[in-house]
Parts: sequence; structure tokens; C-alpha cells
Amino acid sequence: MPSPSTFDHVPVLAEAVLSGLAPLAGLLAERPQGGVLLDCTLGGGGHSALLLQAHPGLRVVGLDQDPSARVAAAEQLAPFGDRALIVAANFADYAPAEPILAVLADLGVSSPQLDVAERGFSFRLDGPLDMRMNPTDGETAGALIDRLQEGELADLIYGYGEERLSRRIARRIKEQGPWGDPARPRGTAELAYLVAGCYPPAARRGRIHPATRSFQALRIAVNDELGALDRLLAAAPDWLVPGGLLAIISFHSLEDRRVKTAFLADERLERITRRPLVADETEAAINPRSRSARLRIARRR
Ligand SMILES: C[S@@+](CC[C@H](N)C(=O)[O-])C[C@H]1O[C@@H](n2cnc3c(N)ncnc32)[C@H](O)[C@@H]1O
Repeated sequence: MPSPSTFDHVPVLAEAVLSGLAPLAGLLAERPQGGVLLDCTLGGGGHSALLLQAHPGLRVVGLDQDPSARVAAAEQLAPFGDRALIVAANFADYAPAEPILAVLADLGVSSPQLDVAERGFSFRLDGPLDMRMNPTDGETAGALIDRLQEGELADLIYGYGEERLSRRIARRIKEQGPWGDPARPRGTAELAYLVAGCYPPAARRGRIHPATRSFQALRIAVNDELGALDRLLAAAPDWLVPGGLLAIISFHSLEDRRVKTAFLADERLERITRRPLVADETEAAINPRSRSARLRIARRR
């Protein structure tokens, strides 16, 4: 089995992805020339490697907007030669050149993105307030904080982080600004400390770090994650062959609600999973990231 160790990102719900996409075997059996799976969030290539291994007639087109992910995926997928094509793209702006047998999206950030302080995603490590998955495009988290009015920042933290202390947090953040001034760089550790200070002392010692929701909100906004997901849900059914599969792994309720609603309402799709597939106890114990993962799969009519 290919090792995910090169990128240090363990693919979540691997068994559920493999079994949920097992109908690929039937789709490929009808196509002696083979067919394509579009991996919209290649990351380290963990899911793609497993699927390429399971289905010899399959080719993968893998997208990622993060150059470091593409480097890791190229290494992971090298044994599959020209069965894997890696493309630098945001899935929100992509349109495949040929009909697709399955579309997979494993949303959000990867473990390596969180673990490299310089990327600015982590409240546990000190790095610049960046949070861009594509480090060459768009506004950093620090610049976003500086551009928004206090009320707008509070709405963002509430809307994308479901953080009930959003008003207090936004006030404290704006009182301490600016955050995106290159001449006076201020980092993730300072922001995390400030957010934690908005919580009552007892609540600061919980299992979830007090800055989790605020950091999630900023990351979602910086990368327009919900806008990208909405565009993918609107476009992907048209990319699929009849019987083709759309599989989406989401990590919080704002994403999962969108996927659930789209799969129910979209007449091009038929739900395969009525309830989302989740990690079992063993996976949850080994890979903490899997605890919030929800996999939903639909089939193109
Ligand atoms: C959770 S990781 C995927 C891990 C992968 N399934 C694996 O097994 O290694 C998500 C990846 O998707 C990328 N990503 C997130 N949103 C994206 C988007 N809109 N377009 C392209 N890539 C995106 C991130 O840069 C990250 O590398």
C-alpha cells in the first residue's frame, strides 16, 4: 500500500472512500479505454494513490492550489506514472476537458499546512497571520482583519466560526491593530493568546483551544472556502458520466449542511449515503483529524 508518510497527512475515511467509490469498477468495466477520477483536493495524494491502486484502469487528474501539496503528491503518485496528472488549480475555477467517472473533494486544510508555522494556519505555533492555501494569491488573514470594520469582523467570526463571543473577540482584535503591517509583523500566537483572553478562565482549559473557531472563521474567509464549495456543488454534476460519483468529505457543519442540501435538492443527483459516513473508534483514536470528517456520496442520474 502506498505510504502517506512523505507528506505526513493520513487520508481520512480511507476505507469508506474506497468502498463508497467501489462502483468505479463497474464504470471502468464498461470502458476498456479507462476513465478519469478528478481529485479536487489532492493534498499529499493519499486518497488518489489508494484509488489508483484499487482500480487499474483508472487515471487521476488531481488539483491543488498549494504548491507544497503538489510537490508531495508528485512524489506519492510517481509510481503510477502517467496515470496521474497534477494540475495547479482552484477547483472553483476548474472545468475538466473530458467526462469524469468520479469527483472527490476532501475539503479544508491538510495536516502539513497546519504544522508549518510559516503558513499561519496554526494557533499552536507562531507564524505570520497568512492562512492562504495558495500563498501567491489573495489577501492574508492579517490584511483581512485590518480591512474589516469591527462589526464586519464580528459577523465573520460568528458566521464562519459559529463563535458566540464574536463581538468581544472582534473588539479586542481591532483594539490591538494593525495586524497586517509588514513593518510590524504580528503572528498567530499573539492572536490566539488574545482570543483565549476573551474567554472566562475555566473555559480556557477545555479540550478545544479557545481560538479554534476564530481561526476557522478567518481561514474560511481568506480562502473563500464556502464560495468554492458552492461553485463545485453547482458544476460537478455536469462533469460526471451517467452513474458517475460525487464524493465530498467535509469537516464542519457549514460545509456538511451545504453538501447535504445540494445532494437532496439537485435533480441531476441521487443520494447514495442517506447519513454521512464517519470515522470508527479506531480511526478516530489514530487520526484525530478524522473525528470531524463527514463523507457524503451521490450518483449522477
Ligand atoms: C484535506 S487536504 C487533502 C488531502 C488528500 N485527500 C490526501 O489524501 O492527501 C485538502 C487539500 O485541498 C487543497 N484545497 C483546499 N481547497 C482547495 C480549492 N478550492 N482548490 C484547490 N485545492 C484546494 C488544500 O490546499 C489541501 O492541500
